[in-house]
Amino acid sequence: MRNIAFYFFAAAVLCVTCGMFWGIHMAISGDHTMAPAHAHLNLVGWTTMGLFGLYYTVTPAAAETTLAKAHFGFAVLGVLCIVPGIALAVWGSGEALAAIGSILTVISMLIFLVTVFRNGIGRRTA
Ligand code: HEM
Repeated sequence: MRNIAFYFFAAAVLCVTCGMFWGIHMAISGDHTMAPAHAHLNLVGWTTMGLFGLYYTVTPAAAETTLAKAHFGFAVLGVLCIVPGIALAVWGSGEALAAIGSILTVISMLIFLVTVFRNGIGRRTA
């Protein structure tokens, strides 16, 4: 089985690939209405999850924990809710999904906060 760092990178790369096609579509169409959703797909999906992947690569002890799996679950669910949630909010169709996505995303960051303070950077053994 691949480790959690791989899954974070895989999710991050999927996000930025979609985000770039979305950006190209916005640029060609001249309709930038969805820029906030595009921005969050790239910044929360690609940049943030890519940084999580880097952290777990250099801190293998943290990557082996159940907390790391929970972290991945909250991070992915957060992006899957916050991006369409922002799109819905921009369309004027309600903010509930964006709010749920925000809560999931901040929970993911709180898990990361605990992880960093527990393991520091570079810890190899549990
Ligand atoms: C093929 C790659 C990309 C294309 C073609 C693209 C295109 C665009 C376009 C057309 C806008 C709207 C600009 C406006 O309305 O002012 C935009 C906004 C934005 N993009 Fe991208 N983008 C790309 C990749 C990325 C990446 C990789 C990131 C972040 C890591 C990113 C972050 C943002 C942000 C933060 C905004 C909002 C800027 C603002 O509202 O001031 N984009 N992008």
